[in-house]
Amino acid sequence: MYQQLINKKWWKEKVVYQLYPRSFKDTNGDGIGDLKGVIEKLDYIQSLGVDVVWMNPIFESPNDDMGYDISDYKAIMKEFGSMEDFDEMLKGLHERDIKLIMDLVVNHTSDEHPWFKESRKSRDNPYRDYYHWWDAEKGEPPYRWSIFDEQSNAWKYDACTNSYYFHIFSEKQPDLNWENPKVREEVYAIMKFWLDKGIDGFRLDVIACISKDTNFPALPKEMEASEWFPYYAQGPNLHDYLQEMHREVFSKYDCMNVGEMSFVTTESALLFVDEERNELQSFYHFDHTGVGVSKENFMYSDEGNWDLVEWKKIFDNWDKVFVEKGWGTIYLGNHDMSRMVSRFGNDSEAFRTLSAKMLHTFILSMRATPYIYNGDEIGMVNTNHTNIEYYQDVYTINYYNGLKQKGEDCEAFLQSHAKISRDNARTPMQWDSSLQAGFTNSNPWLAVHSNYTSLNVAAQENDPDSVLHYFRKMVQLRKNNETLIYGSFELVDQSNAQLFAYTRQLNNEQFLVVLNFSATPAILQTDIQVDSSPIIISNYATPCQNKVFEPYAAVIYKIQ
Ligand code: GLC
Ligand code: CA
Repeated sequence: MYQQLINKKWWKEKVVYQLYPRSFKDTNGDGIGDLKGVIEKLDYIQSLGVDVVWMNPIFESPNDDMGYDISDYKAIMKEFGSMEDFDEMLKGLHERDIKLIMDLVVNHTSDEHPWFKESRKSRDNPYRDYYHWWDAEKGEPPYRWSIFDEQSNAWKYDACTNSYYFHIFSEKQPDLNWENPKVREEVYAIMKFWLDKGIDGFRLDVIACISKDTNFPALPKEMEASEWFPYYAQGPNLHDYLQEMHREVFSKYDCMNVGEMSFVTTESALLFVDEERNELQSFYHFDHTGVGVSKENFMYSDEGNWDLVEWKKIFDNWDKVFVEKGWGTIYLGNHDMSRMVSRFGNDSEAFRTLSAKMLHTFILSMRATPYIYNGDEIGMVNTNHTNIEYYQDVYTINYYNGLKQKGEDCEAFLQSHAKISRDNARTPMQWDSSLQAGFTNSNPWLAVHSNYTSLNVAAQENDPDSVLHYFRKMVQLRKNNETLIYGSFELVDQSNAQLFAYTRQLNNEQFLVVLNFSATPAILQTDIQVDSSPIIISNYATPCQNKVFEPYAAVIYKIQ
C-alpha cells in the first residue's frame, strides 16, 4: 500500500556533498582553497560515491561573511580563481556524473555591490528601492535585532542621505527589498545565467527572510532576540515570491533546489514543498540542531547533555509531514555548525571513529535527501578554540566585540561559544600528514586542526576500518536500496534514551536500523528477532548480543 504513495524523483535519490571551497584545497599558495583545488580533488569526490556537490558561495565578495556577502553575482571570487576554472570544474564534475548546486544568497548583497553603492548615493537614485531605507526625519527606526552586528542593531545610519538601512546580518550585508519587482527580476536573471551555464540547481540562503514585515512596527523592548525574528522571516509575500521564482526559473529547468528555511514548522512545511503548490522541492529546518544551545545568546548551555528521546521525536514528527507529499532533507553538520562528531557523537579518541560511523549510518538511512559536509566523511572534529585571535568568523568576532564594548564577560562567552562556533567546521580539509595537512604549502587562512597528522584522508585510505571506507560503503548501500530511500520510517523502542532505532520498509523488504547514541551499552526493547537477523552493515564485528548494543554501535539488519 505504501508503494502507491511513492513519487519518485531523481533529486530525492541523490547523496549531497557540501563543499566549503575556502578550506578544501589551495593550489597557489595563498592559504585559501580555490577552484583549481577542487579540480585536483575531483577523483576523490567521485570516489565518495556522492551524486551532488553543493558548493558554498564562490562569487565576488569582500568576505565579511565568507562569501555570503556578494558584490558581483556573475563573477568568480578572485581568490577562488576565474570563470575558466569554474567551467573546467563544472565539466569535470559532470564527466563524473556529479551535479553541482550553488549557493544563492539573495536576501542581501554586500554593501560593495554596485546596486548598494548606487542606492546609498541619493534618495532618488534608481537603485534606492533595491534596499530598505528609513529616513532620519522620521526619527530613529524601531529597534530590530541583527545577528552579526556588534551592537545587535539591524539599522545602520548612513550620513550620505541622512537615512538608515536595514541589515539582518552584518552591516556589510544590507537586505534587498524583495517588494521591488525589479529586484526579483534581477535575481531570476542571475539564476538563469548560472543555470544556462549548466549548473544543476541552488541552495537558497536564508530564503525565509526575503519576505519580512516592512511596516517595521515598534516592538516591546523586553522581547528576546529569538522573538524578534518572526518579524523579518516568513513574511506575508514569501509564498508569492517562491511561486514566482518557480514560474520564472525552476519550471524552465530540470534542476534541484533546497531552501534554508528558518522558522518553518511541521504545520507550515507542506506550504513550501507540496508539489502541487509549485514552490520548492525541499528545505532544511533547524529543529534538531539547537540541542543544548541557548536561544538568547548562542552559548552552549548544557555541557553536552541532550535528550535523545526528544531528539527522536523531532525526526519522527518531521518524517510524518512528508509521508504523502513533499520531501525532507537530513544533515548533522554544515559550515554554520560545529563538527557533527563533536556535537552529536563523541570526539574522544575511544569513540570518535565509532560515533562518526554511527552518525553516517543515521544520515544515510533516513527517509530524506542526505547532506554530508566535507571533512565529516573522515570524522573531523571541533577545534574548540577559546582565544579570540584564532577566529575568522564575523559572527564570533562581532558578538565578542559587542560584549566587550558593553563591559560584559566576553571570556565566558568564548569558553562556551567555542563548542558551537562555526569556525570549528571551517578548518582546512585534512588530506595527509604533511605540513598544513596537505591543504596548502603556506599559511592557511584558518589554522589546521592539530590532530591532522593522525586524522587525515591519506591515513584513512590505507585503513579498511576507517570512517572514510565506512562512509563509502554506507553511500553505496543507500544508493542500492530503494527501501532506504523511499521506504516507510517507524521508530522502534521510542522511549529508549540511548538508542535511536527504526525500521525502513518498502513492499516486502524491511530493515531495522539501531544506533547507540551513548558511550555505554544499551538494551533494545523489541519483539523483532534481532540476534538472528542478517547484518547488512555495522561499525562493530559483533555490535550486539542478546539485544545489548555496544557503545556508539550502528547496525542495519535485514528483517526476514
Ligand atoms: C546562512 C548561511 C550563513 C550566513 C548567513 C547569512 O545562514 O548559511 O553562513 O552567514 O546565511 O548569509
Ligand atoms: Ca588559493
